[in-house]
Amino acid sequence: MPTLLHLDSSADLQHSRTRALTARFAEVWRNAGPDHLVLRRDLHRDALPHFPDPALHWPPRLRPAGAAPPLEAETLQRELIEELTDADVLLVGAPLYNYSVPSTLKAWLDYIHIPGVTVPFDGPTQPLAGRPAVVVSSQGAVYDPGTAQEGWDHAVPVLEIVLGASLGMAVTVVTVPLGLAETVPALADQRGRAAAEFAAAQETLAALATKLAATRS
Ligand SMILES: Cc1cc2nc3c(=O)[nH]c(=O)nc-3n(C[C@H](O)[C@H](O)[C@H](O)COP(=O)(O)O)c2cc1C
Repeated sequence: MPTLLHLDSSADLQHSRTRALTARFAEVWRNAGPDHLVLRRDLHRDALPHFPDPALHWPPRLRPAGAAPPLEAETLQRELIEELTDADVLLVGAPLYNYSVPSTLKAWLDYIHIPGVTVPFDGPTQPLAGRPAVVVSSQGAVYDPGTAQEGWDHAVPVLEIVLGASLGMAVTVVTVPLGLAETVPALADQRGRAAAEFAAAQETLAALATKLAATRS
Protein backbone atom coordinates (compact mmCIF):
# COMPACT_ATOMS: atom_id res chain seq x y z
CA MET A 1 0.00 0.00 0.00
CA PRO A 2 1.47 3.40 -0.96
CA THR A 3 2.17 5.10 2.34
CA LEU A 4 2.86 8.74 3.14
CA LEU A 5 4.66 9.45 6.41
CA HIS A 6 3.35 12.88 7.42
CA LEU A 7 5.31 14.78 10.08
CA ASP A 8 4.35 18.15 11.56
CA SER A 9 6.37 20.14 14.05
CA SER A 10 4.72 23.56 14.33
CA ALA A 11 3.74 24.50 17.89
CA ASP A 12 0.85 26.49 16.45
CA LEU A 13 -2.28 24.33 16.40
CA GLN A 14 -4.60 27.06 15.04
CA HIS A 15 -2.94 29.22 12.40
CA SER A 16 0.07 27.20 11.31
CA ARG A 17 0.98 27.63 7.67
CA THR A 18 3.11 24.50 7.52
CA ARG A 19 0.29 22.44 9.04
CA ALA A 20 -2.16 23.83 6.48
CA LEU A 21 0.21 23.08 3.60
CA THR A 22 1.15 19.56 4.73
CA ALA A 23 -2.57 18.85 5.29
CA ARG A 24 -3.27 19.85 1.69
CA PHE A 25 -0.56 17.47 0.42
CA ALA A 26 -1.86 14.64 2.63
CA GLU A 27 -5.45 15.24 1.48
CA VAL A 28 -4.46 14.89 -2.18
CA TRP A 29 -2.42 11.77 -1.38
CA ARG A 30 -5.34 10.19 0.50
CA ASN A 31 -7.76 11.00 -2.33
CA ALA A 32 -5.51 9.33 -4.88
CA GLY A 33 -7.09 5.97 -4.03
CA PRO A 34 -8.47 3.81 -1.22
CA ASP A 35 -5.13 2.05 -0.85
CA HIS A 36 -3.19 5.31 -0.33
CA LEU A 37 -2.40 5.52 3.38
CA VAL A 38 -1.26 8.46 5.48
CA LEU A 39 0.70 7.71 8.63
CA ARG A 40 0.69 10.84 10.77
CA ARG A 41 3.22 11.73 13.43
CA ASP A 42 2.71 15.05 15.19
CA LEU A 43 6.06 15.87 16.71
CA HIS A 44 4.65 18.79 18.70
CA ARG A 45 1.54 17.16 20.19
CA ASP A 46 3.35 13.89 20.84
CA ALA A 47 6.90 15.12 21.34
CA LEU A 48 9.66 12.54 21.35
CA PRO A 49 11.97 12.46 24.35
CA HIS A 50 15.25 14.24 23.67
CA PHE A 51 17.90 11.90 22.34
CA PRO A 52 19.10 10.25 25.57
CA ASP A 53 22.38 8.45 24.88
CA PRO A 54 25.16 8.97 22.29
CA ALA A 55 25.46 5.20 21.79
CA LEU A 56 22.11 5.31 19.97
CA HIS A 57 23.77 7.30 17.19
CA TRP A 58 25.34 3.97 16.17
CA PRO A 59 24.16 0.41 15.54
CA PRO A 60 25.23 -2.05 18.27
CA ARG A 61 28.27 -3.27 16.28
CA LEU A 62 29.74 0.28 16.18
CA ARG A 63 29.02 1.29 19.78
CA PRO A 64 31.81 1.76 22.33
CA ALA A 65 32.46 -1.17 24.65
CA GLY A 66 30.12 -1.12 27.62
CA ALA A 67 27.52 1.10 25.98
CA ALA A 68 24.07 0.37 27.38
CA PRO A 69 21.50 2.82 26.02
CA PRO A 70 18.02 2.70 27.60
CA LEU A 71 16.00 -0.16 26.16
CA GLU A 72 12.86 1.95 25.70
CA ALA A 73 14.81 4.54 23.70
CA GLU A 74 16.28 1.82 21.51
CA THR A 75 12.78 0.42 20.92
CA LEU A 76 11.44 3.87 20.05
CA GLN A 77 14.35 4.44 17.67
CA ARG A 78 13.65 1.14 15.91
CA GLU A 79 9.98 2.10 15.51
CA LEU A 80 10.84 5.52 14.08
CA ILE A 81 13.33 4.07 11.60
CA GLU A 82 10.87 1.36 10.54
CA GLU A 83 8.13 3.94 10.08
CA LEU A 84 10.43 5.92 7.82
CA THR A 85 11.82 3.02 5.80
CA ASP A 86 8.32 1.57 5.32
CA ALA A 87 7.01 4.87 3.87
CA ASP A 88 6.94 5.52 0.13
CA VAL A 89 7.08 9.30 0.60
CA LEU A 90 8.12 11.47 3.56
CA LEU A 91 6.37 14.80 4.18
CA VAL A 92 7.88 17.17 6.77
CA GLY A 93 6.35 20.38 8.10
CA ALA A 94 9.31 22.46 9.23
CA PRO A 95 8.67 26.01 10.46
CA LEU A 96 11.69 28.26 10.97
CA TYR A 97 12.30 28.58 14.70
CA ASN A 98 15.23 30.76 15.75
CA TYR A 99 16.89 30.26 12.38
CA SER A 100 16.71 26.48 12.77
CA VAL A 101 14.23 23.61 12.92
CA PRO A 102 11.89 23.21 15.93
CA SER A 103 13.55 21.14 18.65
CA THR A 104 10.79 18.54 18.26
CA LEU A 105 11.84 17.92 14.67
CA LYS A 106 15.52 17.95 15.62
CA ALA A 107 14.80 15.17 18.14
CA TRP A 108 13.28 13.07 15.33
CA LEU A 109 16.34 13.68 13.13
CA ASP A 110 18.60 12.59 16.00
CA TYR A 111 16.78 9.25 16.26
CA ILE A 112 16.71 8.39 12.55
CA HIS A 113 20.08 9.69 11.24
CA ILE A 114 22.23 6.67 12.08
CA PRO A 115 25.56 5.88 10.37
CA GLY A 116 25.70 2.22 9.41
CA VAL A 117 21.88 1.94 9.43
CA THR A 118 20.25 4.80 7.48
CA VAL A 119 23.48 6.49 6.39
CA PRO A 120 26.47 4.89 4.63
CA PHE A 121 29.40 4.44 7.03
CA ASP A 122 31.31 1.15 7.02
CA GLY A 123 29.18 -0.14 4.14
CA PRO A 124 26.67 1.14 1.60
CA THR A 125 23.74 1.36 4.07
CA GLN A 126 21.31 3.85 2.55
CA PRO A 127 17.85 2.19 2.56
CA LEU A 128 16.08 5.45 1.68
CA ALA A 129 18.21 6.28 -1.36
CA GLY A 130 16.07 7.89 -4.06
CA ARG A 131 12.90 7.94 -1.91
CA PRO A 132 10.98 11.23 -2.18
CA ALA A 133 10.99 13.64 0.78
CA VAL A 134 8.89 16.81 0.66
CA VAL A 135 9.92 19.56 3.08
CA VAL A 136 7.40 22.35 3.74
CA SER A 137 8.99 25.32 5.42
CA SER A 138 7.53 28.62 6.65
CA GLN A 139 9.60 31.66 7.57
CA GLY A 140 8.22 34.52 9.66
CA ALA A 141 10.27 37.12 7.83
CA VAL A 142 12.00 37.08 4.48
CA TYR A 143 15.47 35.85 3.54
CA ASP A 144 15.69 36.79 -0.11
CA PRO A 145 19.02 36.80 -1.96
CA GLY A 146 20.60 40.21 -1.66
CA THR A 147 18.97 41.06 1.70
CA ALA A 148 21.00 41.43 4.90
CA GLN A 149 19.37 38.19 6.17
CA GLU A 150 20.27 36.06 3.17
CA GLY A 151 21.60 32.70 4.41
CA TRP A 152 20.18 33.04 7.94
CA ASP A 153 17.68 30.20 7.40
CA HIS A 154 19.44 27.14 8.81
CA ALA A 155 16.32 24.95 8.91
CA VAL A 156 16.09 24.03 5.25
CA PRO A 157 19.85 23.43 4.78
CA VAL A 158 20.03 20.95 7.67
CA LEU A 159 17.07 19.03 6.27
CA GLU A 160 18.64 19.01 2.81
CA ILE A 161 21.88 17.66 4.28
CA VAL A 162 20.36 15.03 6.60
CA LEU A 163 17.55 13.79 4.34
CA GLY A 164 19.24 14.46 0.99
CA ALA A 165 23.03 14.21 1.21
CA SER A 166 23.14 11.68 4.09
CA LEU A 167 20.04 9.52 3.69
CA GLY A 168 20.09 9.93 -0.09
CA MET A 169 16.43 10.91 -0.35
CA ALA A 170 15.15 12.95 -3.31
CA VAL A 171 14.28 16.15 -1.44
CA THR A 172 11.86 18.80 -2.69
CA VAL A 173 11.59 21.98 -0.62
CA VAL A 174 8.61 24.32 -0.68
CA THR A 175 9.17 27.47 1.39
CA VAL A 176 6.69 30.23 2.16
CA PRO A 177 8.06 33.52 3.52
CA LEU A 178 6.46 36.29 5.60
CA GLY A 179 4.38 34.18 7.97
CA LEU A 180 4.43 37.13 10.38
CA ALA A 181 3.06 39.64 7.87
CA GLU A 182 -0.48 39.22 9.23
CA THR A 183 0.47 40.02 12.81
CA VAL A 184 3.60 42.22 12.72
CA PRO A 185 2.76 45.81 11.68
CA ALA A 186 6.23 46.39 10.21
CA LEU A 187 5.52 43.64 7.66
CA ALA A 188 1.92 44.66 6.89
CA ASP A 189 2.82 46.06 3.47
CA GLN A 190 3.99 42.57 2.46
CA ARG A 191 0.71 40.77 3.17
CA GLY A 192 -0.07 40.56 -0.53
CA ARG A 193 3.17 38.77 -1.30
CA ALA A 194 2.71 36.45 1.71
CA ALA A 195 -0.77 35.44 0.55
CA ALA A 196 0.28 35.00 -3.08
CA GLU A 197 3.24 32.76 -2.19
CA PHE A 198 1.10 30.72 0.20
CA ALA A 199 -1.53 30.15 -2.51
CA ALA A 200 1.19 29.19 -5.00
CA ALA A 201 2.66 26.73 -2.47
CA GLN A 202 -0.75 25.09 -2.05
CA GLU A 203 -0.93 24.54 -5.80
CA THR A 204 2.64 23.29 -6.02
CA LEU A 205 2.10 20.80 -3.19
CA ALA A 206 -1.20 19.52 -4.57
CA ALA A 207 0.43 18.92 -7.97
CA LEU A 208 3.43 17.21 -6.37
CA ALA A 209 1.18 14.97 -4.24
CA THR A 210 -0.80 13.98 -7.34
CA LYS A 211 2.40 13.14 -9.21
CA LEU A 212 4.03 11.17 -6.39
CA ALA A 213 0.81 9.30 -5.57
CA ALA A 214 0.45 8.28 -9.22
CA THR A 215 3.99 6.92 -9.42
CA ARG A 216 3.39 4.83 -6.27
CA SER A 217 0.09 3.20 -7.09
C1 LIG B 1 9.75 29.89 18.69
C2 LIG B 1 9.65 30.65 17.38
C3 LIG B 1 10.82 31.09 16.78
C4 LIG B 1 10.74 31.75 15.55
N1 LIG B 1 11.91 32.14 14.95
C5 LIG B 1 11.86 32.71 13.72
C6 LIG B 1 13.06 33.05 13.04
O1 LIG B 1 14.17 32.82 13.49
N2 LIG B 1 12.94 33.64 11.83
C7 LIG B 1 11.74 33.88 11.25
O2 LIG B 1 11.71 34.39 10.12
N3 LIG B 1 10.59 33.56 11.86
C8 LIG B 1 10.63 32.98 13.08
N4 LIG B 1 9.46 32.62 13.69
C9 LIG B 1 8.18 32.81 12.99
C10 LIG B 1 7.77 31.51 12.27
O3 LIG B 1 8.81 31.01 11.46
C11 LIG B 1 6.56 31.75 11.39
O4 LIG B 1 5.51 32.25 12.18
C12 LIG B 1 6.13 30.50 10.67
O5 LIG B 1 5.00 30.78 9.90
C13 LIG B 1 5.84 29.38 11.65
O6 LIG B 1 5.35 28.24 10.97
P1 LIG B 1 3.85 27.79 11.20
O7 LIG B 1 3.00 28.90 10.64
O8 LIG B 1 3.70 26.54 10.51
O9 LIG B 1 3.63 27.67 12.69
C14 LIG B 1 9.49 31.99 14.93
C15 LIG B 1 8.32 31.54 15.57
C16 LIG B 1 8.41 30.89 16.78
C17 LIG B 1 7.13 30.39 17.43
